[in-house]
Amino acid sequence: HGAMRVAIRARARAGNPDAQVMTDPALRADPYAHYERLRTAAPLADGALGRVSVHHDVCTDVLRSEDFGQIGAYRTDRLPPVLRLALRLAGPRPSVSPIDPPSMVAVDPPEHTRYRRLVSRAFSARAVAGLRERTRQIADELLDELEGEAAAQDGQVDLAARYASLLPVTVISEMLGVPVAMREQFLAWGDRAAPVLDMGLDWSTHRDVERSLGELDSWWRGHLQQLRRDPGADLLSALVTTVDDDGGGLTETELRATAALVVGAGFETTVNLIGNGAALLFAHPDQRRLLAEDPSLWPNAVDEVLRVDPPVQRTGRRARRSTTVHGVPVAEGEWLILLLAAADRDPRVFSDPHVFDVTRPNARDHLAFGSGIHFCLGAALARMEGEVALQALFERFPGLGPAGPGRRRGTVILRGHESLPVVLGSST
Ligand code: HEM
Repeated sequence: HGAMRVAIRARARAGNPDAQVMTDPALRADPYAHYERLRTAAPLADGALGRVSVHHDVCTDVLRSEDFGQIGAYRTDRLPPVLRLALRLAGPRPSVSPIDPPSMVAVDPPEHTRYRRLVSRAFSARAVAGLRERTRQIADELLDELEGEAAAQDGQVDLAARYASLLPVTVISEMLGVPVAMREQFLAWGDRAAPVLDMGLDWSTHRDVERSLGELDSWWRGHLQQLRRDPGADLLSALVTTVDDDGGGLTETELRATAALVVGAGFETTVNLIGNGAALLFAHPDQRRLLAEDPSLWPNAVDEVLRVDPPVQRTGRRARRSTTVHGVPVAEGEWLILLLAAADRDPRVFSDPHVFDVTRPNARDHLAFGSGIHFCLGAALARMEGEVALQALFERFPGLGPAGPGRRRGTVILRGHESLPVVLGSST
């Protein structure tokens, strides 16, 4: 990580826009203008560490290509042995993490196919439709609490901490049979572990990430043991009871990775969709008016939020063999970084790409959920939660507005708000 950090900083000083966005939190207030500086290089541009693409067709093709696979165990593989030893001495080590193999997001077929098949039905559009009403109830309850808190604080509350972050973690916990009392602890672990996706972390952040992943993994171990003894009617209990080392089920390790991934992905991302959506609507009163006049626009508005300010800004792939990308050679083992957030402002796909337009006809063509076999498992759930959360909020508090600048999260890959102070105004 140290060497990687030095390399990224050197490129940033040399004027590389991708490296500048990665190293300068001030630039990340609006990274999009900087990504534009990479637009003329096609198909691939020089990025912070390797080559990157900002083009919609290139990103899509790489994500769908069998010549590329997941980067794999990048969390620990990149560390020199001495640091790995230091980490082991520093505290509990997660033997299983949400983003390393055997987590489905870190492996290629045939393993990927097997893991994903076991959980996909629980996240289908049909299954998610069945959760909408309960999600609305959760949103309304959270808004009741929010109103109570605001009354005690001059009408002001932190929308990020008190609403956007609580809704997804409550929904996914209920879905998977995790005690709702755990939600604050999950959020705390999630906050500390979120930088795990970023490259070139400093030592103390890295240690904190490892510690929180270790604590999380110990908790999962205990929780899954308990489910095995006393299964409920939830998805995890169903998975636990089919554990089988040489059959159709998941091994203990695979199960922990799956549970940690699904829960983590379930609340670390949608929180940012809700927060980014609220912030965009504050900045665009005309779009907000359109939604008030025609609530059937909400689903499209959520996709437009995902396009304009995506919670997952980038992903990466490793070439499994030497190949070409739009005619340009790529060596076996090379990593390509796909700047999804920039691809979603590709002028060849989206007219006036920097304009936030809730009526945009092809808003749904964004890559915010990726593409190909790893296309977000939770896309239907995230869309439904985003719609319900934002619509409930804006309809109940028509006078809702910002009460200060708020603060962005410090992470590079995940983009959202750490705090978003608002004045609620009176409720309808
Ligand atoms: C995969 C984004 C919500 C579970 C992905 C990927 C992206 C993404 C970009 C692909 C990663 C890659 O190809 O490298 C998002 C965004 C969300 C969101 C922007 C919210 C707005 C959720 C939710 C869940 C979830 C609510 C809950 C189940 C997953 C899983 C994968 C995944 C399990 C891995 C799928 C696979 O490898 O086959 N997500 N996600 N996500 N997402 Fe989401």
